[in-house]
Amino acid sequence: MMRKNIVLIGFMATGKSSLGRRLAGRLHYRFVDTDQAIEEITGKTVEQIFRQDGETRFRSEENLLARKLSKQSGLVIATGGGMVLNPENVALLRQNGVLIGLRADPEVIIQRAKGKRRRPLLNRGDLRSNVMKLLREREGAYDLAEFTVDTGKLSLDQAYNEIVQYLKQSGYLS
Ligand code: S3P
Repeated sequence: MMRKNIVLIGFMATGKSSLGRRLAGRLHYRFVDTDQAIEEITGKTVEQIFRQDGETRFRSEENLLARKLSKQSGLVIATGGGMVLNPENVALLRQNGVLIGLRADPEVIIQRAKGKRRRPLLNRGDLRSNVMKLLREREGAYDLAEFTVDTGKLSLDQAYNEIVQYLKQSGYLS
C-alpha cells in the first residue's frame, strides 16, 4: 500500500516541526522539515535567504521543494507557515498527501515566538503587531486542512494522539 505523506500546515509557531518529528519517529515515516530542507539545499539560513535574496527567492525554493516532495511517499512533512499560501504548492502536496492543520491562539503563538530570532517575518519590528497583522492577512488560509488540532490547548502527546486517531479512522494509517 502506498503510504500517503502526512503534511502539517499552519501558522508559524503552531508546533509543526515538533509534532512532525514525533509523528515521523513513532510511525516510522521519514521526516522532512521544509525550512530545514531549504537551508540544506541553499547552504543559507531562512533568515539569510530573506535578507540577502528576498522573500520571492525563498518562495521559489519552497515551490521547487513542493514539486520534489510531491513525487515521494511515506513522509511526514512539516511545512513553513507560508507554504500553502501558493495554491500550486497545495495542489502538489495534496497529490500524494493528507493535509493536517495545526492552530493556536495569538497569545500562544506570541509566547512561543518570543526570543527566537529565526523568523524574518516576525522579527522585524514589533512581534505582537507582526503576528496580529499576518494572522489577519492569512485568515482562512489554513482551512484547507482535512483535520485541525489546537496545539495551544493540547499537550504534544494529546495532539499526536488526535492526529493518529484521525489518520486511522480515515484509512490513511493501518
Ligand atoms: C514563514 C514561516 C517560517 C519560514 C519563513 C516564512 C511564513 O516557517 O518558512 O520564515 O511565511 O509563515 P515556520 O512556520 O516553521 O516558522
